[in-house]
Amino acid sequence: MTTSTDRPESFSPSTGKTTTCENLGVGLAAEGKKVLLVDADPQGSLTISMGWQKPDELPVTLSTLMQKAMNDQCIPPGEGVLHHAEGVDLIPANIELAGLEVALVNTMSREKMLKQVLDSAKQAHDSISLDCTPSHCFPM
Ligand SMILES: Nc1ncnc2c1ncn2[C@@H]1O[C@H](COP(=O)(O)OP(=O)(O)OP(=O)(O)O)[C@@H](O)[C@H]1O
Ligand SMILES: [Mg+2]
Repeated sequence: MTTSTDRPESFSPSTGKTTTCENLGVGLAAEGKKVLLVDADPQGSLTISMGWQKPDELPVTLSTLMQKAMNDQCIPPGEGVLHHAEGVDLIPANIELAGLEVALVNTMSREKMLKQVLDSAKQAHDSISLDCTPSHCFPM
């Protein structure tokens, strides 16, 4: 897996973060990379754009996995990962993520919760990109 500190998104509202994340992922997948996109925005824009039109009906999302991490529960590799026809994997999000932010406030080592989720997925992927909220308030 390669890592990078490059951030294509500017963390300002409607500047193309979601579009860039999706197009980057599809492009890398077309080059043969194993790509994971993570929707870290409670709006679920990336999830909807990738074709899952009703994110609130998905049984497992990023907030589900984050909750597991908070409860010290094991996250099996691949859990909650959706597979897009263009060869891109996605951990979806929905409005539940907004509620989780509140729960995280009183959680020890909350900055490590997202890392635990990503650790469960990184073995199977060459690249992981996150689509963040406009305010970048999601705790990482
Ligand atoms: N390179 C581009 N050229 C022209 N329009 C673009 C480009 N990238 C994105 N857009 C358009 O700009 C709008 C906002 O894009 P997008 O949803 O990706 O922004 P965002 O930063 O994710 O927004 P938000 O902060 O609400 O999450 C969309 O209508 C999208 O189609
Ligand atoms: Mg967006």
